[in-house]
Amino acid sequence: MIIGSRILQHEKVSSTNTLAAALLRDSDPPEGTVITASYQETGRGQPGNSWESEPGKNLLMSVILYPVMVRPADQFIISRMVSLAVYDLISARTRAARIKWPNDIYVGNDKIAGILIENSIMGQTLGSSIAGIGLNVNQTEFKSGAPNPVSLKQVTGTTHYLRAITEELISLLDQRYGMVVRGDGVLLEREYHEALYRAGEWHHYSDSNGEFEGMIERVMPDGMLLVRRRDGRSREYAFREIDYIL
Ligand code: BTN
Repeated sequence: MIIGSRILQHEKVSSTNTLAAALLRDSDPPEGTVITASYQETGRGQPGNSWESEPGKNLLMSVILYPVMVRPADQFIISRMVSLAVYDLISARTRAARIKWPNDIYVGNDKIAGILIENSIMGQTLGSSIAGIGLNVNQTEFKSGAPNPVSLKQVTGTTHYLRAITEELISLLDQRYGMVVRGDGVLLEREYHEALYRAGEWHHYSDSNGEFEGMIERVMPDGMLLVRRRDGRSREYAFREIDYIL
């Protein structure tokens, strides 16, 4: 077992990712160190966004990894493996779970979990990776104006025991990280694609040139999203270059 070898539980922190970064800077935390918190004063979402979570209601976690077997060009494998671990947890409870590129977890058209991966590169490989996960578990009202939040309680109709969900996720993350360590990247890529929201279907999107109809073909090894248009042209998008019209 790598992930969960050490678990640091906090009541209140600024952000579990920020705390993980401080630990990496100031000490030598063992690989697989997990930091959890009941509440974050400044929970961070994707750059420019915050992460809303009522005290004690949701899963807030960061994991410290040293993926020295991963080349910088392949770093999206960390997103794939963390997304799949959270997807495994949700899809055991509902058939409607999907991974929305690059690493949101959706149930139907609503977002149940967000992931913030912060990698550092050391020469030819990754030096460290902080994988931050926010999973909405028992919160039922969201006030921050996020477009489409949903929680496990809203999806299943029951309250969930946070400690059990946390233990299950640590175990799933450990299994999925084992695939990275063993070099099972092709399988991770296939499973990620099978779970991918809107893959192989025609839907509406917009980019800097306006709205269009497109079909997600695949996510490239470097994490770019390949989308085909009705006229047969395909284009690769980086994060934030394309908006999904829901
Ligand atoms: C997103 O915007 O989708 C990413 C959200 C990531 C939130 C998690 S909660 C635990 C960890 N600590 C943070 O400050 N952010 C991540």
